[in-house]
Amino acid sequence: MPTLSLAPASAADYRLRAEKRLPRFLFDYLDGGAYAELTLRRNVADLEAIELRQRILRDVSTLTTEKSFLGNVLTMPLALSPVGLSGMMARRGEAAAAKVAGEFGIPYCLSTLSICSVEEVAAATKGPLWFQLYMIRDRGSVADLIARARAAKASALVLTVDLPVVGTRYRDVRNTMSGGGGAWARLRRGLLSYMMHPGWSLDVGLRGGPHVLANVAPYVANATTPADFSAWANASLDPTVSWKDIEWVKSQWGGPLIIKGILDHEDALEAVNCGADGIVVSNHGGRQLDGVASSIRALPPIAEAVAGKTLIIMDGGIRSGQDMLKALASGADLTMMGRPWVYALAGGGERGLAHLLSAIKGELSVSMALTGITRVTDASPDILSPAHSAA
Ligand SMILES: Cc1cc2nc3c(=O)[nH]c(=O)nc-3n(C[C@H](O)[C@H](O)[C@H](O)COP(=O)(O)O)c2cc1C
Repeated sequence: MPTLSLAPASAADYRLRAEKRLPRFLFDYLDGGAYAELTLRRNVADLEAIELRQRILRDVSTLTTEKSFLGNVLTMPLALSPVGLSGMMARRGEAAAAKVAGEFGIPYCLSTLSICSVEEVAAATKGPLWFQLYMIRDRGSVADLIARARAAKASALVLTVDLPVVGTRYRDVRNTMSGGGGAWARLRRGLLSYMMHPGWSLDVGLRGGPHVLANVAPYVANATTPADFSAWANASLDPTVSWKDIEWVKSQWGGPLIIKGILDHEDALEAVNCGADGIVVSNHGGRQLDGVASSIRALPPIAEAVAGKTLIIMDGGIRSGQDMLKALASGADLTMMGRPWVYALAGGGERGLAHLLSAIKGELSVSMALTGITRVTDASPDILSPAHSAA
């Protein structure tokens, strides 16, 4: 008998809900990856391929998923990854997500390229707020952004370094996200698509504005639509950025610095030499170098090189508590997830996101119990089946 599907249970269910609710071009922007999407699929498939080791008779009556990270005790070792334009997926999406994350007790990382400003998001949350920074050519704007993040009491700066140039996402090309396609394409992507998605159109399209990239708006001339801002971002990201710029960022910021977008153990060592407090092992969710290794495959050699010297975070493909446990057991101190939190917010609003986080915590607790550990901090390669670990 087919399942009724009356209530969402997992991240995959929220993905389906988001697909129904969002105009196609927005869902594809969120869901897609670069080129043939090989790395996007590998991020998920390589995590799935790892087998956990079931252990028995170990008294798992008292479990804790809590973990300290950068001075905060987190409900579980997860943070929400920065996702640009998430305020187009749900009404004032970044502020809403930060609020839910704060109430749940995990950090929210705000993208430079968000609809809500860092000031609006800070006012909406009591939880740890991190600010993600892209290096743009005009260093005066970068210095100003850093100062605003500090004034808004962001507790960590996450410098994303895997985007000196932008990988092409073919779904966006097919949807004419960055222009082209003529009047018929504009009509299908715009008005017709909005009419077919009235829930989104009323809630986000009409009531969710202003739809500008509020963090960078002060530095962009003559931009009014997200497409104008995307064009500005593509032209303004600085491809000259190199290790020597890290010192400057550190001097401007003066707080914990996390470097996001590391996939190679030599780069991880370099980040340690530059004084990074943390790194994010990440391939930008398969949106940049298509064909590069999945994050979970890249993680063990990086952990071997830098564990104990800097904090190791991993994102890419985390869809469940089981995935979190596999990443923690493979050497991550913390995990982050991108698309699933936006699926949940787009498909189910704040309640949807709160439910997804609870569901993931439940999956994590049960998986800990059945692998025989009672503290999440005890996750180690010992709970992975040796034949199928990522290394
Ligand atoms: C739609 C979208 C927009 C993103 N925007 C940003 C961004 O602005 N800054 C950034 O550092 N990473 C960005 N990322 C990458 C995420 O932070 C994260 O690394 C990735 O989504 C993790 O993979 P997952 O989606 O499989 O969890 C974006 C990802 C997606 C899907």
